[in-house]
Amino acid sequence: METTLVLIKPGGVQRNLIGEITRRIELRGLKITGLKLIRADRKTVEEHYAEHRERPFFGDVCDYLTSGPIVALAISGPNAVRAIRMMMGATNPVEAEPGTVRGDMALSIDDNLVHSSSDPEAAAIEIGLWFPEGTVN
Ligand code: PPS
Repeated sequence: METTLVLIKPGGVQRNLIGEITRRIELRGLKITGLKLIRADRKTVEEHYAEHRERPFFGDVCDYLTSGPIVALAISGPNAVRAIRMMMGATNPVEAEPGTVRGDMALSIDDNLVHSSSDPEAAAIEIGLWFPEGTVN
């Protein structure tokens, strides 16, 4: 059993895609064990993307994540980290396969709709950051 983090980014919330994205996750058989609609504070977003601090898009991606409401989801199930990564599709939506969230609903890397944890270690850190109060089993 694993738990992973999904963030529905401001573009996804604005486009009313919360239901479509959570529908796909639940249909797959994964459980929502944490769910909140929030305005993320800059400190949390900078910590979330800390490993990319030196990359040229760091400021832009932090501006974007704090530009409007986002949804943070904790998702649990067998192989949840990899299953969710596959369902979300390649980070750059033009390379994402049809049938994935990004491949069906996004076109550009600067608005790729969702974030999902890259591996179980990152997932544990990210769940701790976004759900310090814990998840619900
Ligand atoms: S990954 O998934 O970590 O392997 O992808 P990576 O290419 O290392 O990108 C890490 C996150 O940075 C975002 N990113 C960008 N945002 C805006 N503009 C540009 N050019 C850009 N390039 C990468 C990318 O979407 C990843 O964030 P998340 O939230 O995981 O999608």
